[in-house]
Amino acid sequence: MRAMNYRGPFRVRIEEKPMPEILHPNDAIIKVTRACICGSDLHLYHGLVPDTRVGSTFGHEFIGVVVEIGPSVQKLKIGDRVLVPFNISCGQCAFCKQGLYGNCHESNSMATAVGGIYGYSHTAGGYNGGQAEYVRVPYADVGPEVIPENMHQDDAVLLTDVVPTGYQAAEMGGIKTGDTVVVFGAGPIGIMAARCAWLFGATRVIVIDHIEYRLDFVRKYAPCEAYNFKSLGDPVRFIKKITDWFGADVCIDAVGSDASGSLLHTITGKKLLLQAGAATALHWAVNSVKKGGIVSIVGVYGPTDNLVPIGNVVNKGITIRANQTSVKRLLPRLIEHVQNGVIDPKPLITHRIPLQEVSEAYRIFSSKLDNCIKPVLIP
Ligand SMILES: NC(=O)c1ccc[n+]([C@@H]2O[C@H](COP(=O)([O-])OP(=O)(O)OC[C@H]3O[C@@H](n4cnc5c(N)ncnc54)[C@H](O)[C@@H]3O)[C@@H](O)[C@H]2O)c1
Ligand SMILES: [Zn+2]
Ligand SMILES: [Zn+2]
Repeated sequence: MRAMNYRGPFRVRIEEKPMPEILHPNDAIIKVTRACICGSDLHLYHGLVPDTRVGSTFGHEFIGVVVEIGPSVQKLKIGDRVLVPFNISCGQCAFCKQGLYGNCHESNSMATAVGGIYGYSHTAGGYNGGQAEYVRVPYADVGPEVIPENMHQDDAVLLTDVVPTGYQAAEMGGIKTGDTVVVFGAGPIGIMAARCAWLFGATRVIVIDHIEYRLDFVRKYAPCEAYNFKSLGDPVRFIKKITDWFGADVCIDAVGSDASGSLLHTITGKKLLLQAGAATALHWAVNSVKKGGIVSIVGVYGPTDNLVPIGNVVNKGITIRANQTSVKRLLPRLIEHVQNGVIDPKPLITHRIPLQEVSEAYRIFSSKLDNCIKPVLIP
């Protein structure tokens, strides 16, 4: 079968790989019909995630058709169209039982932090991902959801990560009626977080980025105020100024380790790798939230070391909440929201690219070319 293949930083290509096989009685094999590229894949692509091995296949946002099931699989049958949460979770361990499906203790048992994630380095379990014609799905009775008859494929594929992550970003922010929420990052995750902030009662939503076409998109889609940090001088001062010098009630980091905006972080985080990527947006979030406010982090930071302004966190009495999204926990509600039109994810997909052209797809998304918000690969 054809699959995306990682060759080293900034180098990916299509290669022939062996067909995935059933390795456990609760496995399924899925023929992929759509697989997105995520901002998280860019951290792998840029070489920022430890233990990203040459030869691995990325892709944790995919949907497809069940073509084979192991003997113990009860929930799925051959021919089912399924969407597959990006976390791999056993459904049985103490963490899964608390709804922390992103922190499963079994699917990545050599690690103490994150659970298994499809196509996300050996740090996240070493599973092959779905940017391929076929993919092995472990714990097939736990993760995959049959796609409702009337659901658009683009909506379904965005339910594997983008919609739940944007929603959880807002949820972790503990947003209350009347709150001002600042979202750093106008990528698909920040856009969805801004959209979802309203659902929790925000009365003002502000998005910060430096890519104009994304700011234009989020202004209309969320809808919200949106500012280019390059034109703000000091973004922290700007946010304080427009919030009566109090700061925002809630700040959301939807950028993660690939942040721009600070020479210090770019050099120490992205060039010298002295910290795990650039924590610029996190600094801005901590410094522009009000005293006693909440910072919600969904931006991904590679383990282990980062410059974090912890003194400011203590002195301001900030609550920090962060996690990989627990997709399975949120899916029932979010499928309903999509079906009722409360959330309309599909406009985020701007590029449909054949899997064969995966290296071009990564280049466009990584360099933010051609007004790209979210690309989907079609095998
Ligand atoms: N926690 C989770 O479960 C989860 C799931 C999916 C994605 N993520 C993470 O969310 C983040 C965003 O993902 P995406 O797909 O939207 O990525 P993306 O790369 O498309 O978007 C990131 C955006 O941040 C902007 N940006 C860069 N520096 C900034 C700064 N200092 N301030 C404000 N904006 C800045 C970029 O211009 C870009 O538009 C990534 O770190 C990704 O790994 C986390
Ligand atoms: Zn993703
Ligand atoms: Zn588990």
